[in-house]
Amino acid sequence: MGVLESERLLFRAHQAADLEPYCAMQADPEVRRYVGGQPRTREASERKFREALEAGDSPLSLRATVFKPEGCYIGYCGLYPRFTPQGPAPGEAVLAFYLAHAYWGRGLATEAGRLFLHVGFDEMHLNRIVASVDVRHAASIRVLEKLGFVLVETERGGRSFHHFELLCPHRRTIPL
Ligand SMILES: CC(C)(COP(=O)(O)OP(=O)(O)OC[C@H]1O[C@@H](n2cnc3c(N)ncnc32)[C@H](O)[C@@H]1OP(=O)(O)O)[C@@H](O)C(=O)NCCC(=O)NCCS
Repeated sequence: MGVLESERLLFRAHQAADLEPYCAMQADPEVRRYVGGQPRTREASERKFREALEAGDSPLSLRATVFKPEGCYIGYCGLYPRFTPQGPAPGEAVLAFYLAHAYWGRGLATEAGRLFLHVGFDEMHLNRIVASVDVRHAASIRVLEKLGFVLVETERGGRSFHHFELLCPHRRTIPL
């Protein structure tokens, strides 16, 4: 898939040099508050990082995200397969974004999301992109709303999640 760019962000495969900023982000309780709940240990972060490296340049994998004005790694964003008990759902993907705390509140997740919706629908010809978010995670919910996602279900439990979807704009049925 190579390198993708938006106005302020560059997206590429993970590289070994991303390890330290990756682990710093995973150790930040603010970043992990609504994803996992606990900061990741160094060992767990390194394990996850190896998975990110192994994913390489696969189109359906989260991409290392570089903030162009500073040339630094600030997290990972992108699309990954929606897994079902039967395997990856064909024509579908999950959108996700994880940014270091210092870069929040600048519209960067929304900018990343817009690019990956374009890639997913216009280049990969996906039919549907989904995202699930902890019901308490107001910032993430807001990003999904800004991107046009629609709430389809709320799953209540120990932790409750909103499930959002966006259908390919080229395939939406136009009411007569
Ligand atoms: C969620 C996350 C990606 C948002 O990134 P971001 O770059 O700050 O998002 P944006 O700046 O594009 O948009 C955030 C929006 O949420 C709003 N917002 C932020 N905190 C909020 C809060 N507590 N309550 C209500 N709205 C809030 C912002 O005002 C902004 O909306 P606006 O443009 O209408 O003003 C970032 O916080 C993050 O990486 N968190 C840790 C990982 C994570 O939880 N990822 C999401 C997994 S589902």
